[in-house]
Amino acid sequence: MGIQIAPSILSADFADLGAECRRVQGAADWLHVDVMDNHFVPNLTIGLPVVEALLRQVSTPVDCHLMIEDPDRWAPGYAEVGAGSVTFHLEAARAPVRLAREIRRQGARAGVGLKPATPVDAVADLLGEVDMVLIMSVEPGFGGQPFLELAVPKIRRARQLIGDADIWVQVDGGVSEETIERCAEAGADVFVAGSAVYHAADPAAACTALRAAAVRAAPVRVAAAP
Ligand code: DX5
Ligand code: ZN
Repeated sequence: MGIQIAPSILSADFADLGAECRRVQGAADWLHVDVMDNHFVPNLTIGLPVVEALLRQVSTPVDCHLMIEDPDRWAPGYAEVGAGSVTFHLEAARAPVRLAREIRRQGARAGVGLKPATPVDAVADLLGEVDMVLIMSVEPGFGGQPFLELAVPKIRRARQLIGDADIWVQVDGGVSEETIERCAEAGADVFVAGSAVYHAADPAAACTALRAAAVRAAPVRVAAAP
């Protein structure tokens, strides 16, 4: 699939979300929507009704990042209303295999997210069930935090475990023109950026600049033999 850019609307103007989403239309592959419940993380954002309303207004596919407790109960609903990708946290899921299967059954890509201190090897046995592994490069909960370098070897390890399988590696937190290259070089292919996009004067141009930097740094992967 190649390099994909997913601006996080967490740094957008929440009072004007439809317009904010349209500012990156054409320049973004996904709109990354951070759902926080004030329990799994110490912050509260938006939930299913707002995601549903956004889906009616925007044509860019929506990537829901659920930083919530009990994703087993809530995550499938996001797939059901039409999110293209739904990511739950491994730390919060009670039955991750069943949950990933349920998200896929509802027609979305299933992602599994890891907080900075969760080892990548914890998802090794789940890889056959998911479409994306999300490596958090900040403690989840807030935009605008500095990038944690410990994410880079984790991205490399995820890519190594994935091998030839068609599973995306997403990095989220502190991604900017300064940090994106080492993430791409390590093997990430989906890049979430909140403040680097929405605090820029031209969010679409910021997406384009991030994409160019990632493409420059990404290793050329040798295609698997037929
Ligand atoms: C943090 C969220 C991120 C956040 C990233 O918990 O998951 O998606 O919006 O924001 P920046 O890019 O500013 O670190
Ligand atoms: Zn996120």
